[in-house]
Amino acid sequence: MGIVLKDGLIVTAVDIYKADIRIEGEKIVAIGSQLKKTGDEVISIDGYYILPGGIDTHTHFDLETGTGIRTADDFASGTKAAIAGGTTTILDYATQNKGETLQQGLNNWNQKAKNKSYCDVGFHMAITDWNDKVPVQMKDMIQKGVSSFKIYMAYKGIMQMDDEDIFKALIRSKELGALITFHCENGDVIEALIQESKSKKYTSPYYHPLVRPALVEKEAVTRLLYLAELANAPVYIVHLSSKEALENVIEAKKRGVEVHVETCPHYLLLEDSLYDLEGFESAKYVMSPPLRKQEDIEALWNGINNHFIDTISTDHCSFNFRGHKDVGINDFSQIPNGIPGVEHRISLLYTYGVQLGKISLNKLVELTSTNAAKLFGVYPQKGTIAVGSDADIVVWDFNQTSIIEQKTQIQNVDYTPYEGMQVKAQPVYVFLRGNKVLSQDGGILEQPQGRFVKRKSLKGE
Ligand code: URP
Ligand code: ZN
Ligand code: ZN
Repeated sequence: MGIVLKDGLIVTAVDIYKADIRIEGEKIVAIGSQLKKTGDEVISIDGYYILPGGIDTHTHFDLETGTGIRTADDFASGTKAAIAGGTTTILDYATQNKGETLQQGLNNWNQKAKNKSYCDVGFHMAITDWNDKVPVQMKDMIQKGVSSFKIYMAYKGIMQMDDEDIFKALIRSKELGALITFHCENGDVIEALIQESKSKKYTSPYYHPLVRPALVEKEAVTRLLYLAELANAPVYIVHLSSKEALENVIEAKKRGVEVHVETCPHYLLLEDSLYDLEGFESAKYVMSPPLRKQEDIEALWNGINNHFIDTISTDHCSFNFRGHKDVGINDFSQIPNGIPGVEHRISLLYTYGVQLGKISLNKLVELTSTNAAKLFGVYPQKGTIAVGSDADIVVWDFNQTSIIEQKTQIQNVDYTPYEGMQVKAQPVYVFLRGNKVLSQDGGILEQPQGRFVKRKSLKGE
């Protein structure tokens, strides 16, 4: 017994065409017409679009900061919000804390996600304590399906890694066929600028972007790309935010460096004028890197269309405005960094990207699903609509208007940076490996159906 989705418009990274889809078990088993078999459920979706389930490769659910604050969203609320927004797979940043092995980090994250996740979940492994044992442990991670890693060039004294260790890690990633993702900001310079700012009693969130200027990002990007060139290793830059940094990516690509780039909806849609808001309100936008200027936004959209940016993920790292962010009311450097976004990524990008003519619908699929699957070792199992792929399918109504509001969102946080913005994209059905986990009339299935996603390395192993 299967399910037939009838008369929808199928959109992949390269095609748009009208056809029916037959799902059996967890897979797409046929695409065409007259697919119904005895006992099948037939769902008419005439007028709607069928996109592959979104893949958000950058979330931080159930993350504890160095100061003991835990993110507002755990794996239950975060992955439920993902499903509500048409994302069927997330890759979260499991983290090796200082003194831990990578396996201990993985155990920790497995525990956080276990039996709680509404969408499929994979992990990158953030390395924060490089030592002689880590190279062997990296191989073990890959064998367990954790084929990508993360290194922070910022957050001095907590997660930041120095150039010697970065270089060693890059050499090892090349040997293993692993992809390392990088947070590119110069943590030492940021630290000095924070101290200077505080010495002048500049303590409000207005100063957050001033201690993290675009040049701090550009410097780290440039340095990383020379280290990658020296190691002959591919790299992936997370949450790229500035025109300056993008210029160096383009230059490095011309030199032959293999660099992949992610940006986030907030860098495409929100401006740094939000740091001018009255009182402490701008703490809602304290994330790293900070929001930038209109010319950066334009450069990022251009970068997307010129193939310099591969993915758009959210860096969802939600902290409540009251009770979390306000620990920094007298010192912006204490405000936990991060904003929510997993729920609204695709509807925002459709509305303010596709509808405004900035990107095509195929590009939307490429940026929010297909490229993520290809870069992180799950293509074509996920990231496309094809026979044999997981039936991770989102049926979208692109004619339904709604307003983003904190009071109606699923993500468990007391604000949204997109409050009041209108979107014109609503999931009508979401299928996760063939399970109907969301329907517009029935809501989200109460029982979490998410599963761990074992990913391949760049060597295909
Ligand atoms: O401000 C941010 N981005 N917080 C989450 C951690 C990170 O840097 O990705
Ligand atoms: Zn980061
Ligand atoms: Zn992040």
